[in-house]
Parts: sequence; structure tokens; C-alpha cells
Amino acid sequence: MSKQFDVIVIGGGPGGYIAAIRAAQLGKNVACVDEWKNSQGGPALGGTCTNIGCIPSKALLQSSEHFDHASHHFADHGIAVKGLSMDSAKMVARKDAVVKQNNDGILYLFKKNKVSFFHGRASFEKAVDGGYEIKVAGAAEETLVGQHVIVATGSTARALPGAPFDETQILSNDGALAMTAVPKKLGLIGSGVIGLEMGSVWRRLGSEVTILEGLPTFLGAVDEQIAKEAHKAFVKQGLKIELGVTVGEVKVGKKGVSVAWTNAKGEAQKLDVDKLIVSIGRVPNTVGLNPQAVGLQLDERGAIVVDGDCRTSLPGVWAVGDVVRGPMLAHKAEEEGVAVAERIAGQHGHVNFNTIPWVIYTSPEIAWVGRTEQQLKADGVAYKAGTFPFLANGRARALGDTTGMVKMLADASTDEILGVHIVGPMASELIAECVVAMEFRASSEDIARICHAHPTLSESTKEAALAVAKRTLNF
Ligand code: NAI
Repeated sequence: MSKQFDVIVIGGGPGGYIAAIRAAQLGKNVACVDEWKNSQGGPALGGTCTNIGCIPSKALLQSSEHFDHASHHFADHGIAVKGLSMDSAKMVARKDAVVKQNNDGILYLFKKNKVSFFHGRASFEKAVDGGYEIKVAGAAEETLVGQHVIVATGSTARALPGAPFDETQILSNDGALAMTAVPKKLGLIGSGVIGLEMGSVWRRLGSEVTILEGLPTFLGAVDEQIAKEAHKAFVKQGLKIELGVTVGEVKVGKKGVSVAWTNAKGEAQKLDVDKLIVSIGRVPNTVGLNPQAVGLQLDERGAIVVDGDCRTSLPGVWAVGDVVRGPMLAHKAEEEGVAVAERIAGQHGHVNFNTIPWVIYTSPEIAWVGRTEQQLKADGVAYKAGTFPFLANGRARALGDTTGMVKMLADASTDEILGVHIVGPMASELIAECVVAMEFRASSEDIARICHAHPTLSESTKEAALAVAKRTLNF
């Protein structure tokens, strides 16, 4: 006997679990199916973000930052540390505990919102009268029928051709977050978001880190001026970043991994490392979903085809997050999940794709919203730019972290803010003000006229806005 639901959500990551909660809030009878298992075989809700992505990486970044501060910066404050050591197994155990708190938090939220949770893998069985039959296989063996189905199955790491992940020596984000000893030499392929975040963690803990990047430019999607500033800071910290490389054969031996590569000048090189992290992007995940059973359309990349409102090729079937077009970001998935739940309930869900913030959690952090200077040039938009360095900010000086700047771009005639780009301390938090400003279509003058508390890093945003009108007060 099948169980009937108004909405079945497949996948319990940020896109899926948030969609399930919002649909339940709106009075729908909701099921969520997720197969992720913790080390005891129990459910581990939260998907890649919670289990092997955003949350564990931030836990490790925090630990490695503490270690870095104790090693290099405490002395400036008059604090002497004797016998400093790092227990990386304990650091990883702490990270696992943080992950578990988040997993359990979602289970609690499901109970609170009366979302029925099924631990197993969901696949499409067939279309039935008034909906779709979904088979659940795993700890829970069930047949469910849903009037609406929201697919939120996420993405998986893309492997380098000829070098499959073994998670012992060739690591995806999964293995990169589970190393319990600091590798002496660490190689990374790809200097994108994961490469830089993971490279930062393990460099701070003492690894010699080399990143091989295929593109000739560093962080091509980031505003050029900001990317240059970040590159300077990373190189100064000791990250070796090779741009414009072609990666050749990868050999796994008893002692480590050997990567043959060619540099930008076409010269053959070799990199010998203890571990190799491959972070060259992610691919949409529809493994085991059985989309062909109902004729659900995928594109050539394997992503589920959706329109601007996350409607798939089938009536009543929706898809959100990494498994569809657009940036692979947890918060983008969440917004889509909420909007879809609201559309199912007859409301007008909305996602503004122009104001989705990006954050790279390195030190210094990089965050931005809106268009870069190079995009504005390419689009032929006349703009004004204002920058303010953290070097001139009192709070940044007191923190002892004056790297970077805030850069604001505004329309030359209307003064509407078109983009804000930050590299520096707490950029991830500072960007929120800029997202709000852009969402409300603020001008740079609006930010310049708003009272910002002193002494805060956020004064740098106000000063960057003042710089657009060439009237900074503190620089
Ligand atoms: P990415 O797309 O950010 O970067 C991949 C990099 O690898 C690019 O620079 C690309 O040019 C390079 N590359 C590709 N093929 C290569 C090859 N054969 N040889 C050398 N270089 C090569 O992908 P990444 O870092 O794997 O992250 C995957 C996704 O996860 C991203 O879409 C990102 O948005 C998301 N993510 C977001 C985070 C955040 O918001 N803080 C944190 C971690 C991941």
C-alpha cells in the first residue's frame, strides 16, 4: 500500500530540506527522502553542504585559523605560546561533531514541522493518476505517491580523466575534509573555490601546497582587481599557484602521487605529493533517480532541465539546487526550494538571481554580489568605481588584519549600485549589507549617507560608497 503525499522532496540538502519545511509550513503533507548515512549507518541529513562541504570546511578553516594565529600572530599581542602543537585527528573529530549537530538539527526541524522523513534512495517508478510513484530503497523500503515531486539531488565532484577518486591519495572534497594527518606535500588540481579553501586549511597546518590551475587567469569569475589582491595575499602566505597549466598523467604509487604537467610556457614539469585533491568543478547528480521511467528531461551535462521557476519538463515535477542550471551554492538552492514550495501552494515564489552573493572562505575572505568591472565593460555599461582599503580602517588595524579592500561599482548616471566586491577580513558578513542594498536598488549615495557604527569593518563599505563620489573621509 503506497503512502500519499502532497509533496515528495527527493534529497535532504539545503535545497531539499528547506523546500520540505517551507511546503509543510504552508499546510502541505510532505515527505522527504534522503539516503546519506553517518558512520553508524543512521541518517545524515543536510547533503553535501552539511556532510562534506560548507559546514565541515568552515569547521576546519576555523581550527586551522586558530593554529595559524597562535603560531604567527599571538606574539604581536604579547601572548607567548610554548610547546604549540596540532592534533589533527582531534580537529577532524571536532569537525565531525559540528556536522552531527547540523544533521540532528534538521531531523529535529522535520519533526517540528511534521515532515515525514524516509531514509533511503528515491527513484521514479511511474506516473500515476494525480501524481508520481516514488520507490524508496534502503533503511526504509516504501512506495510513495506524490502530487508534486521536488528533485534536489545535488551534485558530485568531477574526477580528472584517468585519475578516479580513491579518497586515500586522490581526494575529492570528501577525502580532503577527512584527512587525520597533515600531508607534508599536498597537490591540488583547480584553483576554484574548493581548491583555495582546502589549500588554505592544510597550508596553515603545515603542508607545502601547490595548486595547478588550467586557466591562465586567477579566479576568472572574480573582479580582476580583487582577484589580484587575493592572489598576492595567498602567494605571500606560501601557497604555490601555477596558472595556465595542462595536467597530464597522474600516477599513484605506494608513497604518494606523481602528476606530470606542462607549464604556461609549454615546459614539462612533475609534481610529487603525498596527497592530491582534485577540485575541478562538480557535476549534477541524478544517479539512481531513474528519470527515464517518467521521461524527465536532462541536458547534455546531466542537469535536469528547468525553466526560470524550476519547473521541469513534467507537470508537477520541480527541481532545485546543484542538479539544475545556475551557480552551485547552498543559499541559491535554499532560495529555489522556498520559491518552489510557495509556487506549489499557489503563492508567487521569487528568486533574484542578480543578487546572489558569492563567498570564498579563505583568509583573506573574498565575497561579492552583482557584476564585476570586467562584466560591466563587456556589457557596455558606464559606471563609477570607488574603493577603500582595510589598511585605513580603524577596526581592521585593531584586529591586526588590514589586507584587502571594499570596491563598489555604481551606474554612472543613476548611481544605482551594480556590484560590490570585497577581499579582506569578514568579507562573508560584510557582503550582506551590499546584497540588501542591491535588492532595494540602492544608490551608492544611499550607503554613503547611512550611519555605520564605529569602529567596525562595515565603515569600509560606507567609505567605498563615498569613494564612488570621490569624497572618502578616511583615505
Ligand atoms: P570551481 O568551478 O570553483 O573551480 C574549478 C577550477 O578548476 C576552475 O578554476 C577551473 O578552471 C579549474 N580546472 C578545471 N579543469 C581543470 C583541469 N583539467 N586542470 C586544471 N584546472 C582545471 O569548482 P570547485 O572548486 O571544484 O567547486 C565546485 C562547486 O562547489 C563550485 O560550483 C562552487 O560554487 C561550490 N562551492 C562553493 C563554496 C562556497 O560558496 N564557499 C565552497 C566550495 C564549493
